[in-house]
Amino acid sequence: MLRMSTMRAARYSQVGPAASVLSVDQIPIPKPGPNQVRVKLAFSGINPTDVKTRAGSTARDMADFQIPHQDGSGVIDIVGANVDPARIGERVWIMLSAFDNVYGTAADYCIVDVANVRPLPENADLELGATLGVPAVTAAYCVLGDGPVDGKVVLVQGGAGGVGRAAVEIAKWAGATVVATASTPERQEVARQAGADFVFDYRDPDIIFDIREAVGSVDRIIEVNLPANLEMDLEVSKPDTVVVIYASTGADIQIPTRQLMTAGLILEFMLLYTVAADKLATAVSQVESALAEGALTMPPVRYFELDDIVSAHETQEAGAPSRLLIRL
Ligand SMILES: NC(=O)c1ccc[n+]([C@@H]2O[C@H](COP(=O)([O-])OP(=O)(O)OC[C@H]3O[C@@H](n4cnc5c(N)ncnc54)[C@H](OP(=O)(O)O)[C@@H]3O)[C@@H](O)[C@H]2O)c1
Repeated sequence: MLRMSTMRAARYSQVGPAASVLSVDQIPIPKPGPNQVRVKLAFSGINPTDVKTRAGSTARDMADFQIPHQDGSGVIDIVGANVDPARIGERVWIMLSAFDNVYGTAADYCIVDVANVRPLPENADLELGATLGVPAVTAAYCVLGDGPVDGKVVLVQGGAGGVGRAAVEIAKWAGATVVATASTPERQEVARQAGADFVFDYRDPDIIFDIREAVGSVDRIIEVNLPANLEMDLEVSKPDTVVVIYASTGADIQIPTRQLMTAGLILEFMLLYTVAADKLATAVSQVESALAEGALTMPPVRYFELDDIVSAHETQEAGAPSRLLIRL
């Protein structure tokens, strides 16, 4: 009897609301091309970027269909031309699977460029592997993109978020004193557990005083909400403090040029999809080093089945307080 070579895949063929455009279908299992591998997936990780892309808020060309999700983990089961066959059977974490590629990780298998498939060290399980990708690589770039932070003070705005929590862990691993902000006591505890030395509620009117009292001023700020926090960032900075902005949360703001000049604040912006290849490679290798040394740990997670993909996307859009993983 012929074995059916099909797999389950969540997919959409036009952008729009999750309930209108997402379905779970049986489709042919893809074969890897040159410089690609095929991964039998264990977990698919969901990030805000995945639901924004599916909703159509980021302009992307689409083929006949798109399987969502950049991040995931699993085991390499076939390699394409130019890839060492010894990698078959390797446990891996995956990044950028759905970037310029139909085969995101919300399926039983994905095919992906070998450069975006990284070995999981023995100390890291597959669940943890699926939480790395977008958040950890973004965090490494934001924290270490201008050089070491050993002995520096890093402020992570939103230190309980996907990127923010990874930024706290990476900054601590890299030898910084870390100040984090978060809203509720539960969220503050997440940042504390990640290693933050000081955690404050970003809604507290005394926060500027509290940060100054705790650390004086800060050297680097990892910023998730510039419109809400620019004034705070100015008040806790000193000449040459760098603010790295990785999110476009809220409405765009007018830049107070004179105030920024006087303060000597340096604003940097980054988007994972467009950062220079060499800087991306550096950030990935920093994540690998931190992972190998046990510095990246499991965030609070909520699990979904592939058939519940619509609910998973809607939960992410509602501002999930945990990372969302699909079990495959
Ligand atoms: N540039 C890139 O390449 C890149 C990469 C990854 C993510 N992103 C974007 O970055 C954003 C965050 O992603 P994520 O995965 O980290 O999302 P997330 O897990 O939902 O985290 C969002 C965080 O923002 C915090 N926050 C909201 N308002 C704040 C404020 N005024 N001050 C301080 N913190 C505040 C929240 O804190 P509480 O929960 O404590 O309220 C939460 O921790 C998304 O818009 C995503 O699309 C961009």
